[in-house]
Amino acid sequence: MKIILLGPPGAGKGTQAQLLAKHYALPHISTGDLLRQISCSDDPLGQEVKAVMRSGKLVSDEVIVEIVWQRLQKADCASGFIFDGFPRTHNQAQEIISRGITVSTIVEIVIDDEEIIQRLSGRRVHIPSGRIYHIDTAPPQRVGYDNDTGEELAIRDDDQPDALTARLQTYYKETAVLVNFYRNLSNQNGPQYHQVDGGQDIMQVHEAILRCVTE
Ligand code: AP5
Repeated sequence: MKIILLGPPGAGKGTQAQLLAKHYALPHISTGDLLRQISCSDDPLGQEVKAVMRSGKLVSDEVIVEIVWQRLQKADCASGFIFDGFPRTHNQAQEIISRGITVSTIVEIVIDDEEIIQRLSGRRVHIPSGRIYHIDTAPPQRVGYDNDTGEELAIRDDDQPDALTARLQTYYKETAVLVNFYRNLSNQNGPQYHQVDGGQDIMQVHEAILRCVTE
């Protein structure tokens, strides 16, 4: 099972990918998490990635495709994976096809911009693991601390209002084209394409995605 979760920042891709990964025992491949780990390094690549992420723009297709390609070589991807935040440009989607990476299902999580801003202003994350919380809708057991490790939670740099506006613009400019790209592929007997209403509560969205995947 090879699934792509598509949607704007804050749609719930990471939250749903974590639930699906647990449900199907598949690796959750979040390019955002992989890049955040790289950005912790003081070397030139780490510093460049950090600056690009903070600006709300995208890391280059060449860099990201190579990172994903290396990740896919690991043994845990043999029976499938869940892509969260990848592909994000037409070039990345084409590159998947040319490298022979097949995908079974694409799920677009649909949500409006107002809800996005509410969600991202309350998001807290455990950077080392990528675990995601929200101060109201998905709070940790102890305020400000990760459930599993007890370590402190952080606010992502790119959840600041200026970066968030830029990320939304980047989504509509670079990534939204993938909706039609994958719809067209699906109509030509390619991977299945589904939309789910991301405005429902977390478990309702999860169940809706499970229905899409098993259809
Ligand atoms: P990335 O980390 O992928 O960020 P994103 O796509 O902008 O998405 P988010 O992580 O912000 O949101 P999400 O949809 O995962 O929502 P979440 O589940 O957290 O990328 C960051 C940056 O890295 C990019 O801007 C770019 O610079 C770079 N990058 C990444 N991939 C790249 C690529 N392929 N190419 C080039 N550059 C790339 O949920 C949000 C909040 O809402 C949480 O607090 C959660 O608890 C809460 N929540 C979730 N679902 C619900 C619900 N149903 N009801 C109520 N609350 C909910």
